[in-house]
Amino acid sequence: MSRLEGKIALVTGAARGIGFEIARCFAQEGAEVYLNDVDESAAIEAAEALEASGFKVHGDRLDVTDKAEIERVLEAVEAAHGRLDILVNNAGLNVREDFRHLTDEGWEKVRATNLDSVVALSRLAFPLLKASGSASGSASGLASGLACVLNLSSITATRHLRQLAAYSATKGAVSALSRAMAVEFAAFGIRVNYLCPGFIDTALTSRYIKNPAIAKALLDQTPLKRFGTPEDVAKAALFLVSDDAAFITGAGLSVDGGMAVGL
Ligand SMILES: NC(=O)c1ccc[n+]([C@@H]2O[C@H](COP(=O)([O-])OP(=O)(O)OC[C@H]3O[C@@H](n4cnc5c(N)ncnc54)[C@H](O)[C@@H]3O)[C@@H](O)[C@H]2O)c1
Repeated sequence: MSRLEGKIALVTGAARGIGFEIARCFAQEGAEVYLNDVDESAAIEAAEALEASGFKVHGDRLDVTDKAEIERVLEAVEAAHGRLDILVNNAGLNVREDFRHLTDEGWEKVRATNLDSVVALSRLAFPLLKASGSASGSASGLASGLACVLNLSSITATRHLRQLAAYSATKGAVSALSRAMAVEFAAFGIRVNYLCPGFIDTALTSRYIKNPAIAKALLDQTPLKRFGTPEDVAKAALFLVSDDAAFITGAGLSVDGGMAVGL
């Protein structure tokens, strides 16, 4: 399969979990993937594992809260390709705390990682995305289709889970920002969509999923009666960045076993 043949993709927070699976899936579909993470050694190890499978992957450190690091990573992409076809803003984390006890530090950390990073990376990558978008459909020999931004929002953007006020607030903002970007970027040949995963089995959610009482309560609210896998999310990501979604922009796709809509 080669639905992303010739595409240049950058995936943040991709050393593990959903980001890693998106990077693996895109590489498998023919994309050349820049796989980044604040955990540098894990990013390099993950990229090496994919390279060993014959995929084109570059592993590097990128702390998405550090503007200078974002610029350095984008400069490398620009030097090598002069464009970026797919940007996946995946890096994210949560801080569990009742809202009334949330510290300034906790709020700053969640906001900087989940929201400010999407603002910074999307703005700084815009010229490279625009270079891709304006080349699409031309006789330049570049990959066809529009450039894409895909942001990781969450079911918590619309359904609150206790002790995740900061997380929910940033994800709600990511959804709104994605829609705004979609409208503005369309004129430059760039589609922008976002994913709203429910409970996906990763390090981020293990404290819920591994607790039998909490896991049961969550599955009771999930019509498909299972937790999601990173592969479930990667397949939705692939659809949204592929030409199969050529007329889709500003859309949020739930990957949650039906949790958002009810029992
Ligand atoms: N797992 C779920 O159920 C779920 C549900 C909804 C949304 N999401 C979102 O999906 C994305 C991926 O989540 P996951 O479950 O794979 O989490 P995860 O914790 O398994 O992986 C997140 C990755 O992001 C990296 N990261 C953290 N801070 C970073 C920073 N400042 N710069 C760069 N990388 C950083 C981590 O090192 C880690 O490799 C997140 O945005 C998360 O909010 C996950």
